Amino acid sequence: MPQEQSGTPSSSPIRRKKLFIKTYGCQMNVYDSARMADVLAPLGYEPADQPDDADLVVLNTCHIREKAAEKVFSDLGRLRPMKSHRAGTSEPMLIAVAGCVAQAEGAALVRRAPYVDIVVGPQTTHRLPELIAKAHRSAKTVLDTDFPADTKFDHLPAPRADGPTAFLSIQEGCDKFCTFCVVPYTRGAEYSRPAKDILTEARGLVSGGVREITLLGQNVNAYHGDAKSGSGVWSLGRLARELADIGGLDRIRYTTSHPRDMDDDLIDAHATVPALMPYLHLPVQSGSDRILGAMNRGHTREAYYQIIDRLRSGRPDLALSSDFIVGFPGESDQDFADTMKLIEDIKFSQSFSFKYSPRPGTPAAESSDQITEDIKSARLAALQSLLSQQQKAFNLATVGQKLPVLLTGPGRHAGQMVGRSPYLQPVHLDAPTKHHGMIVMTEITAAISNSLSAVAVNAPPGPNPPSEKVNSH
Ligand code: SAH
Ligand code: SF4
Ligand code: F3S
Repeated sequence: MPQEQSGTPSSSPIRRKKLFIKTYGCQMNVYDSARMADVLAPLGYEPADQPDDADLVVLNTCHIREKAAEKVFSDLGRLRPMKSHRAGTSEPMLIAVAGCVAQAEGAALVRRAPYVDIVVGPQTTHRLPELIAKAHRSAKTVLDTDFPADTKFDHLPAPRADGPTAFLSIQEGCDKFCTFCVVPYTRGAEYSRPAKDILTEARGLVSGGVREITLLGQNVNAYHGDAKSGSGVWSLGRLARELADIGGLDRIRYTTSHPRDMDDDLIDAHATVPALMPYLHLPVQSGSDRILGAMNRGHTREAYYQIIDRLRSGRPDLALSSDFIVGFPGESDQDFADTMKLIEDIKFSQSFSFKYSPRPGTPAAESSDQITEDIKSARLAALQSLLSQQQKAFNLATVGQKLPVLLTGPGRHAGQMVGRSPYLQPVHLDAPTKHHGMIVMTEITAAISNSLSAVAVNAPPGPNPPSEKVNSH
């Protein structure tokens, strides 16, 4: 049960308080931040635009690369004087560090920034109300980095729709232990939510106006949740089919996938479930078998090619994206050339690429074969230049096509709105704001840097992608 703030008689009305949450890292953190706001709303916390006047500042952090983790400490340095300024007043400021840095650094974080009031890991965010009550009573930092046996999803309030698109976490954690990655340590073991809970959450979102749901998981295609009836388990392919049956849910996406878990059923779903959008983020990390082995990725370059061939034979227009790491320990010029060759062969519509960042506690950080910063920078520049050419080519190839666009917000210029194509490209077009949340058929007129310009057309949806429901306007 959420506890009252100390000194507040339980019969008095709840005092309005301001909450500022800053989110770093992946979409799962975005989802968790929204859930933290939900769990705090009954305590009177309302969103603040700035940290200055917030009663509670939450930094929901990411530990994936050194830069991401260090940013938290520079932000904490800026918050410290704001907190000191309010100390001793009737409206003190509490600072909470949540997420993956909280989990990974725990007590070390408390030593480095003892003025932080609460340190809470990703699996215990539902306990925030009691942690806040404790923090008000204690001069010391309250630390909770448990991996509890009962999942936070059983304790968090159901999310409310907030616009036409939504994230839905279906799976958390990772058992794969890639040698560069902190996620198995920060998020814990793989866990899949029961399918019936996911369907209930999805139906609630759709009845609130959501038309596109992105299913989230650190290893989302490793999903194996208890089936609706309690008999057996469902894979992601099966779950996608069931979700596609929800009337009003027009678009389904999922991220992030691992090549090892791309099973036949999911590949088939890409060919046969129209609501499953023709865009897949399938990180390969490297094109060299030697490096893939050293990374403990559990698949070869050839296996990746085969998966892509099978996906594309069922869905030829499938847009692909990936993550790449350059400068992994021991990466030779030939290994890097293999990665460039893989990119040339596969052709990605967009991608994310990073210099290898040694992370404490991970095996690759211990390697004596670290690559110099200069080499990492040169390889990243070459790789990003190729990826950006491919992104431009992909976007240019859609000029002249008729594509349905789900309008989600104001566009680049006055009188314009922006939305996403099925391939996740941002598309700008002239449209009245009342069309927010509609799927309109457009003709793509130009590709400008990383987005597209289009005009609305009243044509029925073309064959590509098949049968997406389009609002007439
Ligand atoms: N679960 C996803 C990735 C999660 S982390 C998967 O298996 O693909 C997101 C991306 O961050 C990774 O795909 C990887 O490209 C990058 N990353 C992870 N650890 C890193 C490190 N130590 N240095 C640089 N990039 C890293
Ligand atoms: Fe990290 Fe590998 Fe797990 Fe992805 S699969 S979260 S890269 S350990
Ligand atoms: Fe970062 Fe944790 Fe996500 S380390 S990428 S916030 S799972």
